[in-house]
Amino acid sequence: MKLHMQPKLIIHGGAGSSLHGKGGVEIVRRSLYKIVEEVYSLLLSGARASEAVVRGCQMLEDDPRFNSGTGSVLQSDGQIRMSASLMDGTTQSFSGVINVSRVQNPIELAQFLQNSPDRVLSDYGSAELAREMQIPSYNALTELRLQEWMQERQDNFKRTMAGVVAEPELVETSNARRGTIGVVVLDTHGRLAVGTSTGGKGFERIGRVSDSAMPAGNYATVNAAVSCTGIGEDIIDECLAPKIVIRVTDGMSLKDAMQRSFREGQNHKRDFGAIALDANGAIAWGKTSEVLLAAYHDGEKINDTLEWTSEELVGYC
Ligand code: GLY
Repeated sequence: MKLHMQPKLIIHGGAGSSLHGKGGVEIVRRSLYKIVEEVYSLLLSGARASEAVVRGCQMLEDDPRFNSGTGSVLQSDGQIRMSASLMDGTTQSFSGVINVSRVQNPIELAQFLQNSPDRVLSDYGSAELAREMQIPSYNALTELRLQEWMQERQDNFKRTMAGVVAEPELVETSNARRGTIGVVVLDTHGRLAVGTSTGGKGFERIGRVSDSAMPAGNYATVNAAVSCTGIGEDIIDECLAPKIVIRVTDGMSLKDAMQRSFREGQNHKRDFGAIALDANGAIAWGKTSEVLLAAYHDGEKINDTLEWTSEELVGYC
């Protein structure tokens, strides 16, 4: 195992259409930077990649602005059902929960399942596990998400997805966006890990399964790790996260793997974004959507993609 590598970190709070002006951008930037700062300090203090990923996901889940944990969108029947997964690149093991309700941090269930013989649980099993873990019952509903759902009900659910970020203006403008959160980490020992968590698309049929609790949306090996956001069905159809990771594992650079995968996604008219790290510390992000709400620490400074409007599908450093 490598020792004392410069840790790297990239997180996202979703992808979609543009935020409401500079005010919205600054608020999201502050939220993301605070989380990057805390998780990066944890990494500098020697935390294991998977531990840092879980902490970052917990913080993003607890921020009501993003569509995961507190502030999750409501499904067609007005209920919140959340999905989350964790993948440790060193052990190459994936764990997750699908459509879990009444817990504050779905990523904690995914973390527990890393050491279980049964590593992906659906709704009923997730509820049983939460009880076994003695996790207190938690209501993740926020007023803004409730208003968003009530307006959609009045409009007979014409929109196919809820907003990527909970903003008061959204309730009035009906501006379709997509949301998820994700964290990708390279720790001081060169270990990679990735976590992704979501409230889903919003307004979906009961039982719809999100990419966020599938390898398609969250995947890592010892070579690379990727978290996806955007329309789950598009991410599943491209098998986006494993495609990028396997291209890197087979010898392609992270930049080339991202560029090729995003070009394919664009050709297929997909709507998504992704963040990625490789084992050498290269950081990359990509989107076919209008914006990607990502922030990263490159070892020297924090930066973000909030105002990245480049014609290029992929950015990297
Ligand atoms: N990517 C989140 C979802 O579609 O559920």
